[in-house]
Amino acid sequence: MQTVRLSDNKEGIVAAARILRDGGVVAIPTETVYGLAASAYNDNAIAKVFSAKGRPQDNPLIVHISSLDMLNEVAVEIPKEAEKLAEAFWPGPLTLVLKKSENVAQSVSKGLSTVAVRMPEDKVAREIIKQSCLPLAAPSANISGSPSPTTAEHVLADLDGRIDAVVMSGSSNVGLESTVVTLSVSPPTLLRPGAVTVEQLKKFLPDLVIDKAVLCEPLKDEQVASPGMKYKHYSPKTELFLVEAGSEAFVEFVNGKTDCAAICFDEDLDKIKTKALCYGSVSDPKTQASKLFSLLRKTDTLGVSKVYVHAPEKSGIGLAVYNRLIRAAAFKVITL
Ligand code: TXA
Ligand code: MG
Repeated sequence: MQTVRLSDNKEGIVAAARILRDGGVVAIPTETVYGLAASAYNDNAIAKVFSAKGRPQDNPLIVHISSLDMLNEVAVEIPKEAEKLAEAFWPGPLTLVLKKSENVAQSVSKGLSTVAVRMPEDKVAREIIKQSCLPLAAPSANISGSPSPTTAEHVLADLDGRIDAVVMSGSSNVGLESTVVTLSVSPPTLLRPGAVTVEQLKKFLPDLVIDKAVLCEPLKDEQVASPGMKYKHYSPKTELFLVEAGSEAFVEFVNGKTDCAAICFDEDLDKIKTKALCYGSVSDPKTQASKLFSLLRKTDTLGVSKVYVHAPEKSGIGLAVYNRLIRAAAFKVITL
């Protein structure tokens, strides 16, 4: 299959919408990461998404909408809290898990009675949804397991020849996938941290709890609230370790190693003697988030067998950065 490159102007948006209406799959930009979109009403189109990504069959998809009217098409019995969260954070990087409407194809939610929904902030994404008049199911547009794509080039590196089209737009400015909160259980539970932080959510959901899979490795065969949490994720081919340490201890540790590279904070770059990539200032988790997936893709070009990553703070957006890194490192943490 030839993957058509579409521009992110009016013409490209109309062409993308037409392919989606015809049951095709199109990679589209969003502010979090690029998504691989298909009609949320079409089981056949959803099957193509799973097959292009090599996605495990029990991992459900997020449905993207462009208006609150569309929310009522895909979810039912919407609680008051959802309306308040939508008002505060949509359009934006927050996904709500709600009771599913019969309209949504069974294969989107993989047999669950719930559906995950978000309204993206990216204008091109919203315009494609609007023009297609369809809610779009869209997982990250990468091969399952590899780092999520924050540029159209990342999408093509994984999926060229496997999907109908890609809308070539700019870099995703958040750089990490949306925050996922389920309101279908009591108390409401954070399933995946993202740019909308726990601290922000607690103003609306004072009894919010954090699912244990956010920071811990699920046991084999354990039932998890969000199936995506149990798979190996975001991994480059190079072996990755997350290092919890102060600045001096981290620098001393990596300088004592051979055949390795470091992913460090800007402040430490000058002191590190091995190959090093920096992912922002220690106090700037927003920049760390926006650079992370690009850096993880780069690690395989460094020609080393191990990469040590200096662990970020676990608060604010830092919690999301930590959550992705601990999975990229297959839960291998070195504490100094
Ligand atoms: O930022 C994002 O959310 C991006 C862009 C494209 O919007 N999409 C994305 O999709 O990250 P994906 O498929 O890579 O991650 C979806 C996550 C998975 O962890 C999945 O298990 C969870 O959402 N999920 C989807 N439906 C769910 C449901 N009904 N209940 C619980 N978790 C659900
Ligand atoms: Mg993904």
